[in-house]
Amino acid sequence: MKKIALIGFGKMGNALVRGWHKRESIDRIIIFDPAAVHGDHRYIRTELFNEIEGFQTASRDADVFIMAVKPQDMATACEAITFCVHPETLIVSIAAGLPVTWFQRRFAEDQPVVRIMPNTPVAVGKGVSVAVASETVSDDQKRKIAELFESAGTFEWLESEAQMDPVTAISGSGPAYVFLLMETLAAAGVKAGLPRDMAERLARQTVIGSAALAEMQSDVSAERLRTNVTSPGGTTEAALKILMNGKVQEIFDHAIAAAVARSQELSR
Ligand SMILES: NC(=O)c1ccc[n+]([C@@H]2O[C@H](COP(=O)([O-])OP(=O)(O)OC[C@H]3O[C@@H](n4cnc5c(N)ncnc54)[C@H](OP(=O)(O)O)[C@@H]3O)[C@@H](O)[C@H]2O)c1
Repeated sequence: MKKIALIGFGKMGNALVRGWHKRESIDRIIIFDPAAVHGDHRYIRTELFNEIEGFQTASRDADVFIMAVKPQDMATACEAITFCVHPETLIVSIAAGLPVTWFQRRFAEDQPVVRIMPNTPVAVGKGVSVAVASETVSDDQKRKIAELFESAGTFEWLESEAQMDPVTAISGSGPAYVFLLMETLAAAGVKAGLPRDMAERLARQTVIGSAALAEMQSDVSAERLRTNVTSPGGTTEAALKILMNGKVQEIFDHAIAAAVARSQELSR
């Protein structure tokens, strides 16, 4: 990708640019966000606009337009770029819930559109991005998008767009569940007698260290990683007997079903 145009410079837009701005294969990243500070120079190879006219001129020959605004702002954002988009321009959306056809209705019926669900660890090159492409996206465009998002973590294509709802529920929203685990573990540590700041430090570093171990042993299943650190008759086993009584799984099943339902609702 030579020139990337990005619409929306909030949490996700920032996370993506932080991961991309040093890549030599990208010439320029042109950004539009009315709330942004014009000329913000935190990142190299980027140009930030908070007024649409300058952005439209600068992004006219962009290879791809990446839409990173909230679903409720997407119609306005699409309208703003209509005249920059040509029949072969690739539109990439990272918005939860909006299907590929939603964008094709706004641009052209056969507009190349890729819908991607990234998660916030893309900011540190450890994200998960999962995508689906319209039939009109060329192999070359697919290769370039895969390369772009692989630079921010792992990337995979889906076979069917229907899988996007469970993907959103698992990896899109997933970092929040891990942070909740950190909070819950720390709160339990406080109840068990530790000072709060120490309990928080221990819980946080335990999640960081466990994730690093899981990353290092990527061919070992999660179940195996767990049994490897559970000695028979020990303290871990005593806790796991309670955690694995089916209730945690049940709560997760309900939570994921709620996120899937919300994602489906947003698609309508
Ligand atoms: N955060 C996540 O973990 C996550 C994960 C996967 C996917 N996503 C998707 O990523 C998208 C962005 O989420 P986010 O968390 O980054 O939201 P966010 O922090 O609210 O960022 C969106 C940014 O876009 C700006 N904006 C609003 N209307 C615009 C327009 N017409 N043109 C240009 N910019 C406009 C907003 O400005 P104002 O604040 O002034 O409105 C805001 O700065 C969403 O569609 C979400 O579904 C998010």
